[in-house]
Amino acid sequence: MTISRREFVKLTGATVLCACACVGFSGCSIGVSNVPLAPKGSYRREANRIIVSLTAVEELHVVGGAVRLALGDGHGSEVKVLVVHSGENEYLAFSNRCTHRGKELNYLKERRKLECISGKSQFDLEGNMVLGPAN
Ligand code: FES
Repeated sequence: MTISRREFVKLTGATVLCACACVGFSGCSIGVSNVPLAPKGSYRREANRIIVSLTAVEELHVVGGAVRLALGDGHGSEVKVLVVHSGENEYLAFSNRCTHRGKELNYLKERRKLECISGKSQFDLEGNMVLGPAN
């Protein structure tokens, strides 16, 4: 099959437009979490509590460390949690979902902030949005 130069330009132009529209509709670019997953078996759910074995999760041995947890909700879905060792004897757990469009969060140790992996929204450790389009 051969296509003319004009048809080629139309086709590739439409493809580029489509790719831009997909990124634009979501409102947030694709990002990747820099927070490691806690090792399997190092945490579990008991009723409405999440129990984390601190000795089994190396990242939580130091203040500023953070890990992601992925737990079943008992109904076939996954509950994502971000645990931060925020201070001496202080650990905080957050729903690992940006309130804008549900992307995961990273922990910015130096700024003590949570940041959407899209890089557009940030939250303080009280859960307040401090930057971005999120609620
Ligand atoms: S999903 Fe849009 S800012 Fe987080």
